[in-house]
Amino acid sequence: MTYDTIILGAGAAGMMCAAHCGVRVLVIDHAKAAGEKIRISGGGRCNFTNTYAGPGNFLSQNPHFCKSALARYTQWDFIDLVGRHGIAWHEKTLGQLFCDGSSKQIIQMLLDEMGRAGAELWVRTEVKDLRKTDSGFILDVEREGQRHGLSCTNLVLATGGKSIPKMGATGMAYDIARQFGLGITETRAALVPLTFSDGRFKELAGVSLPARLSNDRTSFDEALLFTHRGLSGPSVLQLSSYWREGETVRVNLIPDLPLFDLLRDQRQSGGRKALTTELARHLPGRLVEYLSHHIPMPGNLADQSDAALSDLIAALSNWQLTPSGTEGYRTAEVTLGGIDTDSLSSKTMEARDVPGLYAIGEAVDVTGWLGGYNFQWAWSSGHAAGAAI
Ligand code: FDA
Repeated sequence: MTYDTIILGAGAAGMMCAAHCGVRVLVIDHAKAAGEKIRISGGGRCNFTNTYAGPGNFLSQNPHFCKSALARYTQWDFIDLVGRHGIAWHEKTLGQLFCDGSSKQIIQMLLDEMGRAGAELWVRTEVKDLRKTDSGFILDVEREGQRHGLSCTNLVLATGGKSIPKMGATGMAYDIARQFGLGITETRAALVPLTFSDGRFKELAGVSLPARLSNDRTSFDEALLFTHRGLSGPSVLQLSSYWREGETVRVNLIPDLPLFDLLRDQRQSGGRKALTTELARHLPGRLVEYLSHHIPMPGNLADQSDAALSDLIAALSNWQLTPSGTEGYRTAEVTLGGIDTDSLSSKTMEARDVPGLYAIGEAVDVTGWLGGYNFQWAWSSGHAAGAAI
């Protein structure tokens, strides 16, 4: 069977590309259904984009690479598409847009767009062999026990990254890219919880509070969650993309709290209770109890000098921790790194040295922050390739 374009991967990027790349298009996926990660995303409501999306929200060895695609298919274009399909949505926080109903609505919308464009979809299909010819590509695939020989002029790599192998993530895009001589930058789990091998936060599991997480390069103000294995929550996931083994993380537990003034006021109006009790009016009690074993908090609030309160504030706003690792691809939302952007055209996503070969979405070395940015990259890069084909 001959196609103009074969897209490997019916995820966010692959489906978007299929909706825009003309006729005789086949999308292949080994999963039992298209868009499985979309389905589970955003707690089942899909955080499908972010109103603030811009190049500054993405990590890549070449921070300029994502600019062209993001500018030519923006968050507003996707919001418009969602609106045309009558999908109701709301902004949760920090520009993050979610479906009011279900993430399945986004999958159905993409399937409808693919159908309108005439693209075919084969799920439960494995690629067994792939070769380049003078005029395109030849694939040997197995679909429900039957082998098929396929040929195409354009081949799009849209099989995503390595995160959550249980859901069918594989490194296939990297393997094919390597086969055709494209570069691959170092890949690692990102948007992932940080772990501490000594289990030091076990007793705090479930405690959550607003915090500022920083290292020498960046800083994020969002919720922090203690877990049995370490630290999670949006601020930690965000920082994890910038963290490297052995590095210390700084935690400010009171980023927006005028705690010095608050404690001074409490001291003036009595303050006869234990400092830990007074502090627990502003921070989770279990956390205060834990911290009292690590930061000196003796006696009543009334006994504290201004200098002692200042020392306490300094300790709470600069708690230094060195994680032992991350939870890895098992729970990571995305893969940092991937197909080297130097190998691709930023306008079309086509490989510079392999005409007809394209790479889009998470497989490429462009990784977004938490908050709808990764789907926006999938839509923008999928659209860029689709429009070019
Ligand atoms: P994606 O992973 O979506 O699709 C790849 C497809 O290729 C899959 O269908 C897979 O089955 C298929 N495939 C893989 N290997 C194959 C092989 N060897 N043969 C055939 N097919 C193969 N982002 C965001 O912006 N907002 C959010 O709310 C969330 N939430 C979220 C929750 C969770 C739990 C995770 C794990 C991730 C998110 N993300 C997210 C990230 C987001 O899901 C991700 O960045 C995009 O899905 C990437 O889109 P792609 O199309 O590139 O890959």
